[in-house]
Amino acid sequence: MSFAFRHFPAVHDDLRADVLAGLAASPKAIPPKYFYDEAGCRLFESICAQPEYALSRTEHALMREHLDAIAGAIGKVDCIVEPGAGDCAKVRRLVDVLTPAHLVCLDIAGAPLAAAAEALARDYPRLAVTALGMDFVHDLEAAAPHLPPGKRLVYYPGSSIGNFPPDAATALLARFRRLAGPASQLLIGFDLRKDPLLLHAAYNDAAGVTAAFNLNLLERINRELDADFDASAFRHYAFYNPAAGRIEMHLVSLAEQTVTVAGQCFDFYRGETLLTEYSYKFVPREFDALAQDAGWQPQAAWERDGFAVHLYA
Ligand code: TRP
Repeated sequence: MSFAFRHFPAVHDDLRADVLAGLAASPKAIPPKYFYDEAGCRLFESICAQPEYALSRTEHALMREHLDAIAGAIGKVDCIVEPGAGDCAKVRRLVDVLTPAHLVCLDIAGAPLAAAAEALARDYPRLAVTALGMDFVHDLEAAAPHLPPGKRLVYYPGSSIGNFPPDAATALLARFRRLAGPASQLLIGFDLRKDPLLLHAAYNDAAGVTAAFNLNLLERINRELDADFDASAFRHYAFYNPAAGRIEMHLVSLAEQTVTVAGQCFDFYRGETLLTEYSYKFVPREFDALAQDAGWQPQAAWERDGFAVHLYA
């Protein structure tokens, strides 16, 4: 078995700077990448198992249904690169059919990534696995020395691209292309626009797991930044904004209150919201245009129950 792990530090300093800047801004906002501490990773996996949250199951079913066609359209690759690999579960079926020599997984949650990638390396003795614990939005280019030569496939499933506003999404896809090189491909999964009531339910599951995931951000800030958020004085609020084509996830202050974070005070009025995440939903042709703006040419596309997987070169 071949396994290597590299941790890229500086994540903690970023948390402090980004949270302080986000709380000072108007409207208040915190970047969604900070959801993923250990508790956040566990809650996220639980969201994906909720009955209302069809996204992950639909993508899984789509990949199973079309796996041969997808593998055929991709052809031979030497290396799969997966930004935001999380528990490395999704990439396994691609490894099975594409049999690359290398897999390079990136995730901001370094410790869970290292454990998942090492388990994967054990299951695939002929696969060289490299896990990079990094905030790839910040440090993507630092992955370059860890990519072996040859043909690369960037795999970006789960509609994670929807968590970036359109301009940032285009910029990120362009950076994927620069990293992987001109002979590379991109296989990307994204959620489609659909009945707003279905979308609303997906981000407001009855068991309250998405709410717990959202509120965990405040607990994390308390734990890591010497802050005094009272999580019971905030409520999860997620809704679909049809004009913008996105779910917006907020935390609403239920009272007028002052919160101290790393020695600085921030006032919330009653009803003020802290924006924690967008989840954009796409129209297939518009997504092609976004990818083309980033330098990727459409190669093939698959669709199932309001979810799409596109291949670009
Ligand atoms: N990217 C997926 C989505 O936007 C998964 C996801 C990210 C998610 N953050 C989330 C799902 C928060 C629910 C809540 O749907």
